[in-house]
Amino acid sequence: MFTDTHCHILEEDYDNIDKVIKDAKDTGIHKMINNGSNRQTSEEVLELSRKYDSLYGAIGIHPDSTEDFTKENLAFIEEHIHEVVAIGEIGLDYHYEGYDRETQLNLLEEQLKLAEKYSKPVIIHSRDATLDTINTLKKFPAVKGSIHCFTGSLETAKIYLKMGYKLGFGGVTTFKNAKLKEILKEIPLEAILFETDSPYLSPEPLRGTKNEPKNVLHIAKFISEVLGITLEDLSNITEQNVHDLFDI
Ligand code: NI
Repeated sequence: MFTDTHCHILEEDYDNIDKVIKDAKDTGIHKMINNGSNRQTSEEVLELSRKYDSLYGAIGIHPDSTEDFTKENLAFIEEHIHEVVAIGEIGLDYHYEGYDRETQLNLLEEQLKLAEKYSKPVIIHSRDATLDTINTLKKFPAVKGSIHCFTGSLETAKIYLKMGYKLGFGGVTTFKNAKLKEILKEIPLEAILFETDSPYLSPEPLRGTKNEPKNVLHIAKFISEVLGITLEDLSNITEQNVHDLFDI
């Protein structure tokens, strides 16, 4: 049994969500944390989590959706915070030209304040923004979470771990050029979470196809080989990690 700690299962991407969930469960992926990224997708995440027992919700405003940074939308997150297991997907993204750094930082801080107030973990997106991410998260030492799709250096990994965060490993880990294999060998097993980021970032050998939570199994098998431990042991450890962080 494994958990997909980060996916985006939404009607715009999947014609048959019943089947996506069933295929995941049949593969042993018995829990999924479905992430919103703006008001609209957060509403859908809430609806789907009411409909499917195995689908847990995370709601939040992604740095690419700063247009949704309004008082009303923060109030919406606060109003529904008891229905979700995390605030996510939130963070910083300085990848594309023209990003508004200050607005992204304010948006992240407002959501971290909610996480702190309600003792909710966060699911963090950080792209080309490692230093600002670390410095912002450090302002909220009581908040814990997952660094989604971790692709940084060992040094960065160690900083996040020291701050009490866990690292999400997904399809990118299985790509041939990934240096993540070396990092995986150096960090404690208690830091590892699995995720797909479905519908994005399919693992090898499915790269280029639409991703689904069931593909966590490919990632888990790959990592069990890298670390030389059995799938069963890896399952026990990472399921405990999921429980410790998200209380599910
Ligand atoms: Ni995502």
